[in-house]
Amino acid sequence: MASFGTTIFAEMTALAQETGAINLGQGFPDTDGPPEVLEAAIAAIRAGHNQYPPGPGIPELRNAIAAHQKRWYGIDLDPDGEVLVTTGATEAIAAALLALTGPGDEVVTFEPYYDSYAASIALGGATRRVVTLRAPDYSFDPDELRAAIGPATKVLLLNSPHNPTGKVFDLDELAVIAGLCIEHDLIAVTDEVYEHLTFDGVAHVPLATLPGMAERTLTLSSAGKTFSFTGWKIGWVTGPAQLVAAVRTVKQFLTYVSGTPFQYAVAVALGLPDQVTIDLAASLQSKRDRIAVGLREAGFVVHPPKGTYFITADIRGVGGVDGIEFCRELPHRAGVVGVPTQVFYDDPEAGRPLVRFAFCKRDEVIDEAVERLTAMGAGS
Ligand SMILES: Cc1ncc(COP(=O)(O)O)c(C=O)c1O
Repeated sequence: MASFGTTIFAEMTALAQETGAINLGQGFPDTDGPPEVLEAAIAAIRAGHNQYPPGPGIPELRNAIAAHQKRWYGIDLDPDGEVLVTTGATEAIAAALLALTGPGDEVVTFEPYYDSYAASIALGGATRRVVTLRAPDYSFDPDELRAAIGPATKVLLLNSPHNPTGKVFDLDELAVIAGLCIEHDLIAVTDEVYEHLTFDGVAHVPLATLPGMAERTLTLSSAGKTFSFTGWKIGWVTGPAQLVAAVRTVKQFLTYVSGTPFQYAVAVALGLPDQVTIDLAASLQSKRDRIAVGLREAGFVVHPPKGTYFITADIRGVGGVDGIEFCRELPHRAGVVGVPTQVFYDDPEAGRPLVRFAFCKRDEVIDEAVERLTAMGAGS
């Protein structure tokens, strides 16, 4: 794992702390989620829910996750066996890949990819094959996807809505992916942590809802993004009992179990009216528009996302060439931190001029960041 070093998020957040820059690098909101959920966590601690929970997660949360999948997507799940609570989606990704793949196996995914994918594939000793999503709409070539799949491919790892591009895979694209999974007998692992953060009326469609996919798909999500509690690290895996059992077997030896009082609180969160998540998406959509206008005025070319809380900016409009260099200098030049998208690619050239900014921040923080970037542009 030596080649993986420190994650770019840790490096950029450290740089923000060191320089006092506005951190639009790491994807965490600067406001807390619903107050009743905070209260539920405090109440759970006070009620003495402070020891190891059951391995698969507390029944209240497993029931709430199953009910959520049914209510939003019509997916039927048995909370005993088809739902597993994990330590964030990060653990779910690692445990799923460790459970399903090993040396000699291949995992196909799209680039740019969330950085833990490469690390988790490597931890298990498998090899990754990537298919590039190309700007401006980040579509993929179905033939490239077909060519990436070979006899050693075991898993197709999908992330939609997609970090860092903000792409939401549409039904036609999902149908292509599903068709290839069925044709090649692959297991799909789908990371849907941004499932509720979509804009402009675009709906997230879980891959598991496509014909023939429920029996071969592990669906992953997390409370971190949906309810703005990224530090609680409560995630989950749902899918066929046999696959979930395989993930649970690995999870036992990674973390054994996950934060008891937060499980009680997330069970409450999942039972809140749907309007809570709808309102969060609406608020993020207006922040997206706010930062998109600001970045354009500052001279960047932007690709506004349909989902997530990230926006990608092309730095060539402000004289930048290489995203990594640009991001290392940006806190000193402008007092703002972003993340170079290049680190999410196997082909660094494909992402070289792209920088990701997180907009899950208060409006005044976004405005201040944009003002600083505009001043930098004017001065250069
Ligand atoms: C695509 C994606 N998957 C997973 C995660 C991690 O989720 P968690 O914090 O629940 O481990 C993130 C966090 O940024 C993400 O962007």
